[in-house]
Amino acid sequence: MFKDRRIIVGITGSIAAYKAIELVSSLKKKGADVYCIMTKSAQKFLTPLTLRTLSQNPVITEMFAEPQLWNVEHVGLAEAADLIMVVPATANIIAKVCYGLADDFLSTTIMATKAPVLLAPAMNHQMYWNPIVQENIASLKQRGYLFVGPGSGDLACGARGQGRLIELEVILGKAEELLFQDKPLQGKKVLVTAGPTREPLDPVRFLTNRSSGRMGYAVAKQAYLLGAEVLLISGPTEIQPFPGVKCLRIETAQEMYQAVLAHAEDCQIIIKTAAVADYRPKSRSAEKIKKRSGGLVLELTNNPDILAELGKKKKEQILVGFAAETEKMLSFAAEKAAQKNLDFIVANDITQEGAGFAGDTNIVSLVFPAGEIKNLGKMSKDDVAKLILQEVIKIMGEKEW
Ligand code: CTP
Repeated sequence: MFKDRRIIVGITGSIAAYKAIELVSSLKKKGADVYCIMTKSAQKFLTPLTLRTLSQNPVITEMFAEPQLWNVEHVGLAEAADLIMVVPATANIIAKVCYGLADDFLSTTIMATKAPVLLAPAMNHQMYWNPIVQENIASLKQRGYLFVGPGSGDLACGARGQGRLIELEVILGKAEELLFQDKPLQGKKVLVTAGPTREPLDPVRFLTNRSSGRMGYAVAKQAYLLGAEVLLISGPTEIQPFPGVKCLRIETAQEMYQAVLAHAEDCQIIIKTAAVADYRPKSRSAEKIKKRSGGLVLELTNNPDILAELGKKKKEQILVGFAAETEKMLSFAAEKAAQKNLDFIVANDITQEGAGFAGDTNIVSLVFPAGEIKNLGKMSKDDVAKLILQEVIKIMGEKEW
């Protein structure tokens, strides 16, 4: 993903410095050429050896050490970088960059670069909300420096609030966004549905399914990274949408139906990954259903088929469905693609190891109404999402409108 991209990771002195280990390791796995620069304080939390081993490059810790890479190192690295990430970024480095101070290797490199600079702040919440820090951040943003996070929650100092380093996935996503040059979905509106629906029986019980929402959230993220304006209509999940993706939360299939139909007309691309319940309890008890002897028979009634409805209304749109099957995957999927007037359907056999609802990977086939089938191997849900969108972009190019 980051193949042949040269990324500088600056690490400053916050307790979150240890998370740079995982960041560097992920960037390497994604193919980046990574160079770490540590400030003096960062070295109190982490040894250069760890980062040298993971990045497989020398780690720069000193301003005036013998150069190992370029002649004038800070200038050489600053020029060669595709992206500089400061993770974690303390109030101190933020202030230094804001005022143009260049008194160590990291601040000097930042001053000398034309590459985008992405800072991920991590500090105590009171420090973060100090008006001086806030002004520095606002002023850097105005000058084009980029920020990601911080997140909220428990802080290392025992307090709670905003100041903790945002999740690495979000930082990596932001880096991906900055390095992605191509925005083929710019100007397009994409609607994605994700997750399960919940069909209530009474105030405490509901019928649902095992969908985690991960596949749909990955599609929404990748569509956003490709330049689209994305609306994610999601059933109850534990995951957070990628920053920049608009998210509307619903619970039942009927709520999803209404939300989707209210927005579908404006969207050029609709991708329905949601695992919508086909049935709901015929009646919903206002009070908790009490235990009785003799068992309980539930009567269910059909929910609207949202995708079929969209298929009927479809005009100049690309419509993609998902099919989760446990048998005869390809024939069932092809039938659904034709019946629901889809451009293609993403079929997965949820009985396979590494496919389906839970994990981070999926094994799918793209099934087209004319009968063509593209089998994709086992891959991450992010990669599946990219290939789905590639296919969408290809179809868009073939349409007259
Ligand atoms: N779908 C929908 N509304 C429903 C049921 C399904 O929009 N009430 C959509 C799903 O979001 C998915 C596609 O239809 O994109 C296929 O879902 P799936 O449950 O596999 O198929 P069904 O058409 O419900 O058929 P079956 O459950 O019989 O396999």
